[in-house]
Amino acid sequence: MKTAQIDTYSTINWKTIRNQFPVLQQEVNGKPLVYLDNGASSQMPQPVIDRLNAYHSNEHANVHRGIHSLSQKATDAYEATREKVKDFINAGSLEEVIFTTGTTDSINLVAHSYGRTYLKEGDEIIVSQMEHHANIVPWQMIAEQTGAVLKVIPMDENGNLMMDAFHAILSEKTAIVAIIHVSNALGTINPVEEIIEAAHAKNAVVLIDGAQSVPHTKVDVQALDADFYTFSAHKMCGPTGFGILYGKKELLNKIPPYRGGGDMIDKVTFEKTTYNDLPHKFEAGTPPIAAGIGLGAAIDFLNEIGMDNIAHREAELLEYATKKLSAIEGLRIVGQANQKASVISFLLDGIHPTDAGTIMDKEGIAVRTGHHCAQPVMDYYNIPGTLRASISFYNNEDDIDRLAEAIIYTKEFFV
Ligand SMILES: Cc1ncc(COP(=O)(O)O)c(C=O)c1O
Repeated sequence: MKTAQIDTYSTINWKTIRNQFPVLQQEVNGKPLVYLDNGASSQMPQPVIDRLNAYHSNEHANVHRGIHSLSQKATDAYEATREKVKDFINAGSLEEVIFTTGTTDSINLVAHSYGRTYLKEGDEIIVSQMEHHANIVPWQMIAEQTGAVLKVIPMDENGNLMMDAFHAILSEKTAIVAIIHVSNALGTINPVEEIIEAAHAKNAVVLIDGAQSVPHTKVDVQALDADFYTFSAHKMCGPTGFGILYGKKELLNKIPPYRGGGDMIDKVTFEKTTYNDLPHKFEAGTPPIAAGIGLGAAIDFLNEIGMDNIAHREAELLEYATKKLSAIEGLRIVGQANQKASVISFLLDGIHPTDAGTIMDKEGIAVRTGHHCAQPVMDYYNIPGTLRASISFYNNEDDIDRLAEAIIYTKEFFV
């Protein structure tokens, strides 16, 4: 993702930043690790690890429940993350930031809670050909239960959504449009502004799956006018098990809780239970407290570098990698959309991606192989899967050179 003017960019020492990621300092199979599976999960820098250690060592207690000091300390630290997330994505209020266990959980919350309440037979849910399974399956489940119908925006050979087809599918029957912001399988950056505006003109509600966008570029949910926006902590230098659902307050107030239990209630009797206010109405049970606090530290870390700088660095690395890989004979890049994030999916002539990935692992290169939880994308190209290098700001040109060398070695291995 390219951005405009970056004032501080030239002053950033990317090597120092990289050195803050202890996991990157190791050898794998006797070779220095080159980690290029950031789309699946990014690594945690030392300040995030330190914050987790500090919490576990000195601050652990349950949140929202205790009058005692330790519980209040944990609650303050945990709730501070809500404030950081609100600012990070420019949500309108803290009530609009719902803590979940990840993107999958966030989408399921909307599908089950909003979908089951408001969808009726014949309503249409629009998704795209390039969705992650997390943004397909929950909608299929809800469609089955409600009689709603799933419609799919097709894509072209380069991995661009066919926007004419989208506008043609969109109608008064469209109730929900659920779209991936950045494709994890292809790197395509989708024109979500146009999608949201057109959907709203038909009174449809829009959910954007931002799992691959929030870690890599500045996202402003109010400027986008997204109704729901979802992402995961573990893809943005934070811990696993934690994620965010942003939702517009008026919509969140309109829908019932998804899970029942402690924390999400106002008053419980056997006759009737009333629910807590936003955002707690959707947060039943003891949450992953440490992971939430870790996300706060991850946001601090990203903010210190600056999301515009991160986007710029990743665009540079994507350009470098695309050039380097395109020069390799017999390598085909799958997904060459007009707007791309730092993901390169590729195939090697005559070599199964899993076999290639295994040899590359022996060279210390961690890339993803398979369908990337996007089987409809693989079906479209009629391929079993791809190899995928997903690049983060803490990667560097050496990593890309090592990737290219490993690809050439792999090709020779299979001759
Ligand atoms: C675009 C996209 N959506 C959803 C998900 C699911 O995220 P999680 O497994 O953190 O719930 C992923 C994870 O790879 C993703 O890339």
